[in-house]
Amino acid sequence: MQKLSRRTTAAAVLAVAALTAATALPASAATTSATAATTAASTTALAAPDIPLANVKAHLTQLQSIATANGGNRAHGRPGYKASIDYVKAKLDAAGFTTSVTTFTSSGATGYNLIADWPGGDPNQILMAGAHLDSVSSGPGINDNGSGSAAVLETALAVSRAQLKPTKHLRFGWWGAEELGLVGSKAYVNSLPTTERSKFSGYLNFDMIGSPNPGYFVYDDDPAIEKTFKDYYAGLGVPTEIETEGDGRSDHANFKNVGIPVGGLFTGASRTKTSAQAQKWGGTAGTAFDRCYHSSCDTTANINDTALDRNSDATAHAIWTLGTEPSVPPGDAYENTADVAVPDNGAAVTSSVTISGRTGNAPAALKVGVDIKHTWRGDLVVDLVAPDGTAYRLKNSSSNDSADNVIATYTVDASSEAANGVWKLKVQDIAAQDTGYIDSWKLTF
Ligand code: TRP
Ligand code: ZN
Ligand code: CA
Repeated sequence: MQKLSRRTTAAAVLAVAALTAATALPASAATTSATAATTAASTTALAAPDIPLANVKAHLTQLQSIATANGGNRAHGRPGYKASIDYVKAKLDAAGFTTSVTTFTSSGATGYNLIADWPGGDPNQILMAGAHLDSVSSGPGINDNGSGSAAVLETALAVSRAQLKPTKHLRFGWWGAEELGLVGSKAYVNSLPTTERSKFSGYLNFDMIGSPNPGYFVYDDDPAIEKTFKDYYAGLGVPTEIETEGDGRSDHANFKNVGIPVGGLFTGASRTKTSAQAQKWGGTAGTAFDRCYHSSCDTTANINDTALDRNSDATAHAIWTLGTEPSVPPGDAYENTADVAVPDNGAAVTSSVTISGRTGNAPAALKVGVDIKHTWRGDLVVDLVAPDGTAYRLKNSSSNDSADNVIATYTVDASSEAANGVWKLKVQDIAAQDTGYIDSWKLTF
């Protein structure tokens, strides 16, 4: 009732006209300011170089030679493993990394992890990429996991070639005895004091990324890391799927278990490619992604070059994107100023801001600044949606609140939510006739 009478006034018509103009007018201006304001983070990260496939394959050739010269494998406790460590370490030392080899014992044999630090970056924000370097004893382990080891190595060498000055501190790791139960990476994580663990902004894992009948799988873990990989693939126009062939079956599990945000890539192991997957990715339906998984035929012939090339470039993309985004001190605001129309009496709409590179959870007093232009704000239900999907109600609808606009700052206890990820402002208009748009909103940490 009230609404109808109000709607028929000239003032209301004028207001709607003004609103339409405001929405329609500065499309490009609005987009520009949104870009500038939406987390300095994602807008000013540097673009990664192309990682030469030939370089990655040259590392695989060397790992194959090492296996061939050492009884056909590079397994924990066998000479081919230590020779693999020596090969990777020499490349990194020559490129200016600070390397260290740490030892542990598993099944009565000495195991080795190799850690390489790129000098510089914020020591309180460590971005790490890693891969297990050991094979099973039954074969040379070129896809599992020469592929991930070589992609991480060549990405590190590209960091050196670029003489990259990242905002984060970059660290690279090659793990021993993964095939015995993620042993080396566990020893590494256990060796980190709690204060060191809290400095990790992320750990990226690469285990089997050149499978001969490949799928393109992204770990469904930290949303910001996952998005970084998905964005890379979206840019190629290649569809991805969420990795489901064994969550926790590689070294990232040890990082995740102590609360470090993780992500990674995978092209499939012994599981069978479906016909739907073969249709979108090519390859052979009804056969395994890697039919030489854990066997003697996991040689340099057991690699799909396209998959290895894409995933090596994706590795570099993630290191550059996540490693060079500006670090954001507490108190900074993340804002999205792009206008989003709220359909009258319609479906909910959202506007996102992406938080990345922060450690830990969101604050207990997270400030949510909301600027919604609307001709009858009682129509609106407004929620903040955390990266994991939890919704926090900011405002309910109320049929008699006829005032214009929702311009307010709400305080939300978001301390149970991981800070990193895609946060959304969700707005729904639940009554007919009056309309509006999200003008801007921001989160202040
Ligand atoms: N190295 C892993 C293993 O032997 C390979 C693997 C299987 C994997 N499933 C995975 C790696 C899922 C990452 C994600 O089990
Ligand atoms: Zn394996
Ligand atoms: Ca309405």
